[in-house]
Amino acid sequence: MAGRHLKEIFKAFHARDELAFRRAGMEIIEEERAKHHNALARDLQKLLVAGGGPIDSSATLIVPPPPKDREGEWDLGEVKEPERMLEDLILDPALVQTLDGLVEEVRQWPQLDAASIPRRQRLLLEGPPGCGKTTAAEALAAELGRPFLLVRLDAVVSSYLGETASNLRRILDYADQAPFVVLFDEFDALGRSRDDHAEHGEMKRVVTAFLQMTDRYRGPSLLIAATNHSGLLDHALWRRFDEVLTFRKPTVHELRRLLRLRLKRVPHSGLDIERYAGRLKDLPHAAAEKLVTDARRHALLRDSDTVESDDLDAVLANVTSRPW
Ligand SMILES: Nc1ncnc2c1ncn2[C@@H]1O[C@H](COP(=O)(O)OP(=O)(O)OP(=O)(O)O)[C@@H](O)[C@H]1O
Ligand SMILES: [Mg+2]
Repeated sequence: MAGRHLKEIFKAFHARDELAFRRAGMEIIEEERAKHHNALARDLQKLLVAGGGPIDSSATLIVPPPPKDREGEWDLGEVKEPERMLEDLILDPALVQTLDGLVEEVRQWPQLDAASIPRRQRLLLEGPPGCGKTTAAEALAAELGRPFLLVRLDAVVSSYLGETASNLRRILDYADQAPFVVLFDEFDALGRSRDDHAEHGEMKRVVTAFLQMTDRYRGPSLLIAATNHSGLLDHALWRRFDEVLTFRKPTVHELRRLLRLRLKRVPHSGLDIERYAGRLKDLPHAAAEKLVTDARRHALLRDSDTVESDDLDAVLANVTSRPW
């Protein structure tokens, strides 16, 4: 382990500078990975992300407070400690490969910069609701050991002319100060002002403004936009993102894997996973997750610590019949 990183970690501790601590931590992890100490690298990364134990939600990140709107009334974003990793998601193998590739690439931005090769810095995640867009953005932050900046688009979008653009500028200036993973979630809301409903021309105008503004962004953060209204964006606009990642509904096989994954640490007996996966056909990943959560609640409420078929059967109709 290079002495330089150790010194940085000690200095960061004294300065109570969490970001500097994370940066040095990530460099140590990358060094270990380069030495093929993969198990150690993975353990260190988990410790860096989650502190090695249950996440203390009261622990505040030491980064400057997120910006507010012009009146100083609303926070334009929220900084979160990312909790979920890519391994918590069941995704199309091609998508997993793209996400892994991006993680590796972001780690090597300095090398890309040195070679004058453009970074892929602005991503669009698109696909139906409940298939992992928000979670994947959070997982990218976790994998990269970066804080997750969730932009509050309801606060950013203003009915005052020009104010939406100023708010976006405030967010980007903030994202210049530290290496965040920034998520503009439900990005299509940018096309809506507070008092007028989604109108295609307006949406196009605002998305174009967003792309122009972020075009010039060369800061340390990864910028991610997510939408489940991909039909509202035309392809000419899409192409201007550095990468478009398409999320899709799970196959029955993927639903089965997801049910198994979510049941892995839950005592259960006699469950016909195959049958439940079949019943969830055409529903999003979120539905499979809810089935397990609801069944666990049902088991607990009847004083059982084991989830059984009766628990899943009792909640199944509610999960499959609700809108997704
Ligand atoms: N591919 C997946 N693998 C495992 N769990 C998933 C997956 N997709 C979604 N989930 C679970 O479903 C819930 C909702 O997922 P998420 O918020 O990421 O969906 P989304 O695509 O952002 O939906 P929306 O378009 O409604 O914002 C999360 O709790 C997440 O754990
Ligand atoms: Mg989402």
